[in-house]
Amino acid sequence: MADFEPKLICFSCKFGWGYLGDEAELHKKIKNWIPIICSGKVDAAHVVDALQAGADGVLILGCPEGECHYQDGNFEAKKRVYLLQKVLAAYGIEPERVRIELSLDPEGKRIPEMVKDFSEIISKLGPIKMVEPAVARKA
Ligand code: FES
Repeated sequence: MADFEPKLICFSCKFGWGYLGDEAELHKKIKNWIPIICSGKVDAAHVVDALQAGADGVLILGCPEGECHYQDGNFEAKKRVYLLQKVLAAYGIEPERVRIELSLDPEGKRIPEMVKDFSEIISKLGPIKMVEPAVARKA
């Protein structure tokens, strides 16, 4: 997949990632970077919509365990990603296409590096192959 450049979406919690950094500069370095108020605000529907709209992978960056400003948003996000990975796998979509990292990087220096690492993983998988939902047969 030498010519394949994956399309990625990166949601990152503003409380843990990049709040001390220059947001405009980070936007220049990171395509499709979406700072959010808490990783718990990323719904499974947001991830599925992104994949259906052409994203090959979704990376979610949340606060470390026990440090979510909304008590357990990061735990909820982690559970949601786990379940979503199971559903994606059931549809033949590689679960690695959705990833969550719970950590801290106030200046946001690691975000471009993490997106690059994720991009390399997704590059090896190739473009996503979305499947049409099965249509129920009428008896
Ligand atoms: Fe950062 Fe909830 S406030 S993950």
